[in-house]
Amino acid sequence: MITVTFKKEIEKNIVHVFATDKSELKTSVLTPSQKKYVHQALKQADFKAKEGEIVSVLGLESPILIVGTGQKPSRSDFEKVGGKLASAIKDQKAAYHPLNGCMPVEEEVIAVATGLFLSSFKFDKYLSKKKDEKKLKEISFIVSEPKKVQKVFDETKKILESVCFARALSSEPANHLTPKIFSELIEKLDETGLEIEILSLKELKAKKFGMLLSVAQGSLNEPKVAVMKWKGNPKKKTFDIGFVGKGVTFDSGGISLKPGAGMGDMKQDMTGAGVVVASMRSFALRKVKSNVIGIVGLVENMPSGSATRPGDIVTSLSGKTVEILNTDAEGRLVLGDCLWYMQSVYGVKKIIDLATLTGAVMAALGEEYAGLFSYDDALAQEILDAGKSVDEEVWRLPMNKAYNKMIDSDIADMKNIGGRLAGGSTAACFLHRFIKEGTSWAHLDIAGVDKYETARPLTPKGATGWGVRLLNALVK
Ligand code: BES
Ligand code: MN
Ligand code: ZN
Repeated sequence: MITVTFKKEIEKNIVHVFATDKSELKTSVLTPSQKKYVHQALKQADFKAKEGEIVSVLGLESPILIVGTGQKPSRSDFEKVGGKLASAIKDQKAAYHPLNGCMPVEEEVIAVATGLFLSSFKFDKYLSKKKDEKKLKEISFIVSEPKKVQKVFDETKKILESVCFARALSSEPANHLTPKIFSELIEKLDETGLEIEILSLKELKAKKFGMLLSVAQGSLNEPKVAVMKWKGNPKKKTFDIGFVGKGVTFDSGGISLKPGAGMGDMKQDMTGAGVVVASMRSFALRKVKSNVIGIVGLVENMPSGSATRPGDIVTSLSGKTVEILNTDAEGRLVLGDCLWYMQSVYGVKKIIDLATLTGAVMAALGEEYAGLFSYDDALAQEILDAGKSVDEEVWRLPMNKAYNKMIDSDIADMKNIGGRLAGGSTAACFLHRFIKEGTSWAHLDIAGVDKYETARPLTPKGATGWGVRLLNALVK
């Protein structure tokens, strides 16, 4: 990770970085003659300050790097500048001089630092020989009140580190992140002040998590359910909001086995849980003033002699029966029991679940938006706004009686698949059958946004940690 510091004084002989929306630099850091030299270089390079444009000027006492922000740069544009710098600077040390005037200096430097931090994530723990690249290790932002800005960044960093925590979890192969290992890792988060409770196979059986257990029963790795509580407002006895995450540590499809090609990606089918765990961690570190609960269902979906067969009927924790016609539609089974548990045991009245639930939503929205399903317009709007504010966008998709009818079964209360059409909506309707009257609930299908096929300005290729920033914007 890059070390970010804030300083008043300017160090010599390191790269000096400026971001600008103009083709000339307005700065008092350079002497008039230095400026003239730089402007000549910019002219020669035909620098127009377009987004992502970058010019390096050598020949002065210290090398200078100038990055274009594009016209009227926003917070999000400065984050992208940060992302660009992480790959563009090959020196170990650099200094960044804010000068743009498009937004308060503090916001500009926090945004650039955010971009740098997020884009420099690397999952290299399994490389026996780490790549020894020439890259930026330390950057100092030159500001007039370093202590004040440092404090703001220290707060922001709690979220950014949690994004990286979620990315690392999602990147773990399934043999290194079984439900047991995952639950042990969650238990360790009690250091942050979270209250943790882990339900074992025995307890899950005693409590009758029938749907969740039907997913787990084909695997040698026993399931776990983790409950995480953050009580930031101890005077109040109830929870303000709850998050539920799908934690299928590997989804082979079960007896309805998936095709071999790309099956390895299904190690990431626990991303909903990873994002919920990482977000709970960040709420605790930030000491948010509300009461938040997180529940994740950790299971492995495998085919074997003990696995659930297509056609089996199971009884859920809620008592409703389900005809399992496709064992690959397992996420909804895990979530349904966890949603019910959160409402019936903890009385939570406002719940959001996150899950890599359907290929259908991935096909519809790609990597650009998560699918949002909710009958509650106010909650849906809150989520849409929170997503916009941190560039983790969601797109609302429909639920209604017709989709709901598609999961009716002749011989059980419901079936776990709705057929070929509207897969995202029928899955959401399935989950809604485990929501009590009076609970405000929304479902985020993150199957498309949980990983990127190619790197983006703030996100290396692979796991994105999508959702941690959104949930933090929601729980201010
Ligand atoms: N985990 C998958 C959904 C998924 C697919 C996520 C591809 C990311 C990439 C889920 O458990 C699943 O298999 N869903 C099925 C449901 C179907 C059998 C009704 C699907 O979407 O194909
Ligand atoms: Mn599946
Ligand atoms: Zn799955």
